[in-house]
Amino acid sequence: MSRIIRIFDTTLRDGEQCPGASMNRDEKLAVAQQLARLKVDVIEAGFPAASPDDFAGVRLIAEQVRGPIIAGLARATQGDIARAAEAVAPALRGRIHTFIATSPIHMAHKLKMTPEQVLERAVEAVKLARTFTDDVEFSAEDAVRTDLDFLCRVTEAVIAAGATTVNIPDTVGYAIPEEFGQRIAHIMNRVPNVDRAVISVHCHNDLGLAVANSLAAVKAGAGQVECTINGIGERAGNASLEEVVMALKVRSDLFGATTGVETTEITRASRLLTQVTGMVVQPNKAIVGRNAFAHESGIHQDGLLKHKATYEIMTPESVGLTEHNLVLGKHSGRHAFKAKLEELGHELDDAALDRAFVRFKHVADQKKEVFEEDLDAIVAGETHRIPETYALAHMRVTSGTDAVPTASVTLTVDGAEKAATAQGDGPVDAGYRAIAQITGTDSRLTAYIVQAISGGTDAQGRVTVKVEDGGRTFTGQGADPDIVVASARAYLNALNKVVYWRASRARMTGP
Ligand code: KIV
Ligand code: ZN
Repeated sequence: MSRIIRIFDTTLRDGEQCPGASMNRDEKLAVAQQLARLKVDVIEAGFPAASPDDFAGVRLIAEQVRGPIIAGLARATQGDIARAAEAVAPALRGRIHTFIATSPIHMAHKLKMTPEQVLERAVEAVKLARTFTDDVEFSAEDAVRTDLDFLCRVTEAVIAAGATTVNIPDTVGYAIPEEFGQRIAHIMNRVPNVDRAVISVHCHNDLGLAVANSLAAVKAGAGQVECTINGIGERAGNASLEEVVMALKVRSDLFGATTGVETTEITRASRLLTQVTGMVVQPNKAIVGRNAFAHESGIHQDGLLKHKATYEIMTPESVGLTEHNLVLGKHSGRHAFKAKLEELGHELDDAALDRAFVRFKHVADQKKEVFEEDLDAIVAGETHRIPETYALAHMRVTSGTDAVPTASVTLTVDGAEKAATAQGDGPVDAGYRAIAQITGTDSRLTAYIVQAISGGTDAQGRVTVKVEDGGRTFTGQGADPDIVVASARAYLNALNKVVYWRASRARMTGP
């Protein structure tokens, strides 16, 4: 009989903590909705006590996302736990995830507490969290560098206090698979009340071993794995969800375990996260990298043609990769467009559908073929739409070997048209200077990335930019068959996010 391993996704909490991955509330909601389609068991939606923004993000997800349990992280303090409880309260199933460090180095230097004080605080935190919900997870931060007997005592005590999940994190990514598996096995064998809770693991990837450690823990009896889409997270990241899930699926013979994840939603989840954060996945990344299913060598291609299983241990379709699926052309109507979007899981209201259809016609006019990836890019701005304070109305650019790059840009700014002309080091730079003149922005551009969405010279270009403003990083995305136009759209998208963030911060903090 196969055990079901729970998948606890922490993309929106640990993942979002990593530099450059910050998301606004609407983006978090879009990612959470995709995680629900992916059928993860738990979504850790954020750390509500960290900031009003974090609180609002968790609360919105708890209100709107149905299916998975919605968890909020809390330090082992009254204030944090109450805040997490308030944030997850609207969820049909809410979880409070409280933690305190248990390793000698953390207790002595960071917490300045004795082991007995830490134990007492952990128990109090769990008891308090249980007054708000029956679903309480406790994490022993830096568990891998914690004295094993003490870790067992803490585990037993928090289970007795009401913890329903106990998480054993490798906070600093120090463990080696065999050793980590033994640690989990020890807890499973030595903690007398361990059958009253699920033992979870949460591995960081500092030595590139997060997935291997998580799998070793599953073999040793862990019932929950904490992970993130594309493996994003603090420093070198967390265990990658897609790798853990597919390893359990492909090698269920070995693990005798499986997950409830809808694996055909993996590719879409990975692409959505890339698009929202601008964090591009390396081409050779397992499962979701661009080359993960590409077979270049003649010997491999020959083998594949004779029998797929010669070189393929899982099909691209099993992770939702239906690359270059021709879906629509320039003669396709609104009805076919809407039906295809629905099939791809994009549900838009009438106004959003109208806007997306106009963009589709524009793309279809310029490209011969429109693929699923193109459609995902076309609707991306609609599924987590923010108010468009600045919109691109017209743009004309001249550049070349013997011309000074010059851009004339007209924007609609809060409904009124404003225009500027500027010269720059290249056409994109000229366009950005014109936009900066109109908007008066003092945000600093820190990253600029161009990618082709599908193959061919007529492919849409997707541009990702990052701008820094007020100590925060904002990611902007734009797609268009013309990369100078895509660049302008990406920049405006980032600037609109800056305006939106300033306005929501002003609303939260009041006059
Ligand atoms: O890495 C870690 O220890 C954590 C805990 C808060 C679970 O992220
Ligand atoms: Zn972590």
